[in-house]
Amino acid sequence: DNNRFQSIISHAKEYGFVFPSSEIYDGLSAVYDYGPHGSELKKNIRDYWWKSMTQMHENIVGIDAAIFMHPTTWKASGHVDNFSDPMIDNKDSKKRYRVDHLIEAHADKLKEKGADGEKQADELLATMDQLLANDDFAGLKKLIEDNKIVCAVSETSNWTEIRQFNLMFSTQIGSVSDEADTIYLRPETAQGIFVNFLNVQKTARMKIPFGIAQIGKAFRNEIVARQFIFRMREFEQMEMQFFIKPGTQKEWYDYWKETRLKWHLSLGIPADKYRFHDHVKLAHYADAALDIEYEFPIGFKEVEGIHSRTDFDLGNHQKYSGKKLTYFDTEINQHYVPYVIETSIGLDRMFLLILSHAYEEETWTKEDGSPDSRVVLHLPPAIAPIKLGIMPLTKKDGLPEIAREIMNTCKPHFRCFYEEKDAIGKRYRRQDAIGTPFCITVDHQTKEDQTVTIRHRDSMQQERIHISEIKAKVLDLITL
Ligand code: GAP
Repeated sequence: DNNRFQSIISHAKEYGFVFPSSEIYDGLSAVYDYGPHGSELKKNIRDYWWKSMTQMHENIVGIDAAIFMHPTTWKASGHVDNFSDPMIDNKDSKKRYRVDHLIEAHADKLKEKGADGEKQADELLATMDQLLANDDFAGLKKLIEDNKIVCAVSETSNWTEIRQFNLMFSTQIGSVSDEADTIYLRPETAQGIFVNFLNVQKTARMKIPFGIAQIGKAFRNEIVARQFIFRMREFEQMEMQFFIKPGTQKEWYDYWKETRLKWHLSLGIPADKYRFHDHVKLAHYADAALDIEYEFPIGFKEVEGIHSRTDFDLGNHQKYSGKKLTYFDTEINQHYVPYVIETSIGLDRMFLLILSHAYEEETWTKEDGSPDSRVVLHLPPAIAPIKLGIMPLTKKDGLPEIAREIMNTCKPHFRCFYEEKDAIGKRYRRQDAIGTPFCITVDHQTKEDQTVTIRHRDSMQQERIHISEIKAKVLDLITL
């Protein structure tokens, strides 16, 4: 379904959702900008996550920590020593690849060759998982050679040895470029939560179990190839660390696994588009971990991670900082370093998920037998960039004035778009293409009986309602 993926990317650009970063300079690899509709859609997804995680969970509070952190943070978290991926270079093309991506791309090609190919691909991926879990680089290189895996650019399989490549971006703080002044752009938002654990617990007077949520930018020097906003070098994470009593991690891991899946389904996306993937190779901080995967046009891929992080982070920060990071549990009269269950979702990846699910090219036959078509985004109304299109049928006879009044009544409550240019059918199509769930049209009948038509994006059906009902009706339909 690479064609569908390419159509979504073009559509996202054409309608102001996502642009390549600094495009006039030919872009910057794996970095993207969000346009007018994109930034609105992204904000709505962000707000929906924030509301469901903080407002709807009385025992979760939010923070907004800085991107720059004391460099020792990343020693303690293990990122300086462990946050790396095995890489391999193609000697002819001089292109560098993440080993797992290279093998996965080959598996995807095998899968296109029917049942036999699929079986081979599954075996290949299982072997790869095993070798990665054991950090068996020689085995991985042999796997690449035995399967004659080539580099897409040069079609040769002349590979270097495999080695580790740290994914953190570094820069200098202060005026002197000196080793001691090296700081990192955070590769995950989670550490801002861990180092603030006691500040938050004390000031918000939280009792375990409780959570801290945060949304913000993270940076990783990914070795990537053309995956649009799926894998970026600058991206946004929505993370929540849930602090619990040691020994209760299994129960809370299961709780968050189910709770997060329900959140995804609450957006109206069918359950069969999702699956769980348990990690074989655990990250350096985890005692259990799984991905929530979604069936993107490029296959089932991770959108969110649920990680049982034990007391790894708080314990290490305690060790490196020399400050106590314990909690006094009044129920059992004991001090302990809490355990943590983490939920971590990429906002950009969720955006891509929503866009992939929503995008549809529809064709049908009209009553007179002629063909018709449209591109429509079936976005959940609650997160659509624009909720209501408001259109006078013509530019005259006082219709624009009535439409303007409706606009003024509605715009303090939800985002509306007023438009009087072009034929009404064309205007509807433009709103369909950006996912506006409802359009109001003011016509000549409006002047007689104060009614307008409301058109529903998905069914294209229209009904007449009284002007006084518009605001309440739309508010009702856009509430999840
Ligand atoms: N704190 C845990 C953590 O960062 P992760 O699995 O590395 O875990 C969590 O990342 C989520 O962040 C992923 O499931 C994905 O949605 C998103 N993410 C990670 N790397 C990304 C990238 N390069 N571009 C876009 N999203 C990314």
